[in-house]
Amino acid sequence: MKLVLASKNEKKLVELRDILSRLGVQVCSEAEAGVDVEVEETGTTFEENSLLKARAVMQASGLPAVADDSGLCVDALNGAPGVYSARYGGEGLDDAGRTRLLLENMKGQMPRTARFVSVITCCFPNGDVISARGECEGTVAFAPQGEGGFGYDPVFFLPERKKTFAQLTAQEKNAISHRGRALEAFQAKLKEYLNQ
Ligand code: IMP
Repeated sequence: MKLVLASKNEKKLVELRDILSRLGVQVCSEAEAGVDVEVEETGTTFEENSLLKARAVMQASGLPAVADDSGLCVDALNGAPGVYSARYGGEGLDDAGRTRLLLENMKGQMPRTARFVSVITCCFPNGDVISARGECEGTVAFAPQGEGGFGYDPVFFLPERKKTFAQLTAQEKNAISHRGRALEAFQAKLKEYLNQ
């Protein structure tokens, strides 16, 4: 089976391709499938947005398509930035700017508990849909630490490891991350679906 990854984020592509390839599924990018789909993420949940992305790429390519929608939910900020994680503070900010804004908004806030959430959805041309969710609990650090990963990784602190996501190797992060967990659950569901 050939499957299109509905994402332009290189880091996500690498993580998703790595795991899905192990299922014997042929994975290709949007570019390799000859499509370039801009999807407006108008949903208010990770589930809705990942479905919007996967469905649009499936319709454009005619192939099953997989999308991930993810973000950081901070308890003291009522779940923000949440589904708006990639757009937190507006289009003008980069990862470092969004991270700075988050630290600013967390000044004096308690508790600092937060979780990363990832929802992975696969849409098939026959209308079937498979979806899986993964979460990873942590806290918002007081300052950025570490060089690895992307996005909010330098300020997502894991109390039991005393390290941020950005201080883990890619392998260590994938083993416990929201996306790693969502992929694990997704992998099981896809296996079951393919064996039906
Ligand atoms: P999406 O591409 O719309 O799902 O946006 C997800 C956004 O959430 C990213 O741009 C990052 O800001 C943030 N995010 C999601 N997963 C991670 C992660 O593993 N590390 C750091 N930031 C992440």
